Amino acid sequence: VFSHVVRGPEDPILGVTVAYNKDPSPNKLNLGVGAYRTEEGKPLVLNVVRKAEQQLVNDRSRIKEYLPIVGLAEFNKLSAKLIFGADSPAIRENRITTVQCLSGTGSLRVGAEFLAKHYHQRTIYIPLPTWGNHTKVFNLAGLSVKSYRYYDPATRGLNFQGLLEDLGSAPSGAIVLLHACAHNPTGVDPTLDQWERIRQLMRSKGLLPFFDSAYQGFASGSLDADAQSVRMFVADGGECLAAQSYAKNMGLYGERVGALSIVCKTADVASRVESQLKLVIRPMYSNPPIHGASIVAAILRDRNLYNEWTIELKAMADRIISMRHQLSDALRARSTPGDWSHIIKQIGMFTFTGLNSKQVAFMTKEYHIYMTSDGRISMAGLSSKTVPHLADAIHAAVTR
Ligand code: LMR
Repeated sequence: VFSHVVRGPEDPILGVTVAYNKDPSPNKLNLGVGAYRTEEGKPLVLNVVRKAEQQLVNDRSRIKEYLPIVGLAEFNKLSAKLIFGADSPAIRENRITTVQCLSGTGSLRVGAEFLAKHYHQRTIYIPLPTWGNHTKVFNLAGLSVKSYRYYDPATRGLNFQGLLEDLGSAPSGAIVLLHACAHNPTGVDPTLDQWERIRQLMRSKGLLPFFDSAYQGFASGSLDADAQSVRMFVADGGECLAAQSYAKNMGLYGERVGALSIVCKTADVASRVESQLKLVIRPMYSNPPIHGASIVAAILRDRNLYNEWTIELKAMADRIISMRHQLSDALRARSTPGDWSHIIKQIGMFTFTGLNSKQVAFMTKEYHIYMTSDGRISMAGLSSKTVPHLADAIHAAVTR
């Protein structure tokens, strides 16, 4: 009965790792998936995560019961504080419902399912380009996906005029997906002044912001600075949604830990919204897993662990920034044709190199360097040792 099933394509991002794993070359380099690596090219478990896990193991009172449908209450409370700020009036007024979900993707999907059932506008505008999974998440939830101009290939920066025009002509009430910081894949973020213009425009048209916050702490090294865009929209008293992921900033990739928050006008609305989120979650996966959320809660609740976390987070962000400088220097040393200043200007985990799919294919074939076909490279996958190899490959790709 399944013989008609055709083989589906590999995922454009995770499929890069599949291809990389098959390559026997000792010089192979995976700059595809956005996952942090050390200078030695190894995955990193933060020290603070190890400590929190040790505490959990030592606590014999811990049990393995089901969590509530909305997850670990303390995790939800602390996650809201992290993104909206400890002094957020919306938190004080109980206008936010926060539910634990399966990392960023799960949070986006739960939010999308809720919107498809309970929001009057079914159209969501996503930036062009955006993270490859966004379109699928929103389409499968039943939303109609349109895009707004975001990146300008000519300047390798923000197409701010195009963005304002497209959002300005979106139908009233449309949902707009915004990357809270460290835009994936471009590494291009609006300035605070630009965010303010976007906020004014969106509020004047009644557009509903849905923030994807997967990199809080990774863009600038500061958790507060990277949440400014979200906090701006919450400060004006209007509604918004926010999907948080702890994959990158705590390195909890495989624990699948994240949160969806919906900021409402009143506490009463927030509590009714939460009752409906439970009806979305229960038939999808019943309730979320306990371990990752317990790690996050242990770190966020304890001042010492929290401080240690911010130091380790800043070290990851700084290492990525240093990779940007090293790559830019290496290209300059090779007199590689073109303007590569965007490598330093772009922020967060990725550089959107501007390399085209043919150049990417060449680099993979000849240099065993793996990256997404849109030319995005994960700076977090580079090290001082591998920068020269990448610079050689880029140089060869653009001069051949
Ligand atoms: C990425 O963009 O590489 C990450 O967000 C990982 C993923 O799930 O795609």
